[in-house]
Amino acid sequence: MKLPRAEQPSKEPKAPKWNVRAALPEDIDAIERIERASFKSPWSRRALSEEISCRSWSQVSVVETAQGVVGYMIFWRVAGELHLLNLAVSPSCRRQGAASILIEQLIEAAVQGGQNQVFLEVRKSNTAAKRLYTEAGFVEIGVRPGYYSDNGEDAVLMGLRIEVPSPSAP
Ligand SMILES: CC(C)(COP(=O)(O)OP(=O)(O)OC[C@H]1O[C@@H](n2cnc3c(N)ncnc32)[C@H](O)[C@@H]1OP(=O)(O)O)[C@@H](O)C(=O)NCCC(=O)NCCS
Repeated sequence: MKLPRAEQPSKEPKAPKWNVRAALPEDIDAIERIERASFKSPWSRRALSEEISCRSWSQVSVVETAQGVVGYMIFWRVAGELHLLNLAVSPSCRRQGAASILIEQLIEAAVQGGQNQVFLEVRKSNTAAKRLYTEAGFVEIGVRPGYYSDNGEDAVLMGLRIEVPSPSAP
């Protein structure tokens, strides 16, 4: 059950505080720091760098405040779809809307690119992320048993279908 607004921790207004942009090679320190603070089995610095610099089908976006980068996402454009591979927000900046802004940008990227489906996998136990995605409109479409090699946890496959305006629409 959702708490009444007055009982929830106070939040800053979501929109104006954040800037989202494509990651640059010099963002790697901040991205690696957030990655290590967010996952028990973090991606290596090299793997993160390759996503920023080496793969034409990969896009890394960061969300920043005046203080610097506080979160990032990595997605691939493959076979007419977007696949979200990684998303994390600095622990000290969570529950303020940063991830929601990144998801909004992900959906916008799909619309702009003419991709009408977005997919992602999320650990079955990751209730925070599953709620984030559900609130953004994603639905559970399957389970990948034992998907995560570090502990054998199942992945929940989630998807979002997007209405992409047809080129002939007024
Ligand atoms: C999951 C994660 C990215 C959410 O980032 P965030 O910036 O805190 O998310 P937002 O503030 O945009 O939250 C949006 C909604 O998601 C849900 N949510 C986010 N964190 C939650 C939590 N800890 N518990 C329950 N719901 C949560 C809520 O519905 C929230 O809306 P509300 O705050 O109005 O209730 C962040 O917790 C994180 O980096 N976790 C570690 C890495 C990770 O699990 N990444 C996802 C891999 S699939």
